[in-house]
Amino acid sequence: MKSNIALIGFMGTGKTSVGLALSEKLGTEFVEVDSLIAEKAEKSIPEIFSEDGEAAFRKLEKEMVAEVSLRDGVVISCGGGAVLDPQNVASLRRSSVIVLLTAPVEEIVHRVAQDGEARPLLDAPDVKARARDLLRSRQPVYLRAADYVVDTSGLKPEEVAEAIIDCVAEEA
Ligand code: S3P
Repeated sequence: MKSNIALIGFMGTGKTSVGLALSEKLGTEFVEVDSLIAEKAEKSIPEIFSEDGEAAFRKLEKEMVAEVSLRDGVVISCGGGAVLDPQNVASLRRSSVIVLLTAPVEEIVHRVAQDGEARPLLDAPDVKARARDLLRSRQPVYLRAADYVVDTSGLKPEEVAEAIIDCVAEEA
């Protein structure tokens, strides 16, 4: 029986806010892979990218995904690129129901601009074009990794959390 819920999806699809709302509703712990990486590396994600490179970040991400996948009964929020590595998907799949959050590219760009977190991979002159290209190339991988897909468009984090609870209830 899979006891964790892992949230995956593109940057700005609300994984953190939904994860927090979901863990609150379920009375479980919320675990964010990127925060754990930053804590362990003692620097921010943009600093890891700029000082050590993306490959170094992906290595840390892989270690952290493996670590959190060993947990039980937690809500896990994964960085947007985590499931591009099949081994990360395999690690998550062992213990977690995997839920993909989606949003239209306009909403993604808006949320990313609002939340104030730097996204090295969206650091481009035309953020929307960059997000659209990246999203298009990643979408098949996201869909393959997901047990369930929840469209977050126009929904509050609490409403998305309710939708996820409904999906996961089917699993039980
Ligand atoms: C990334 C997404 C980011 C973070 C890093 C790389 C990606 O996380 O892990 O900047 O490859 O999509 P969020 O999805 O939480 O923004």
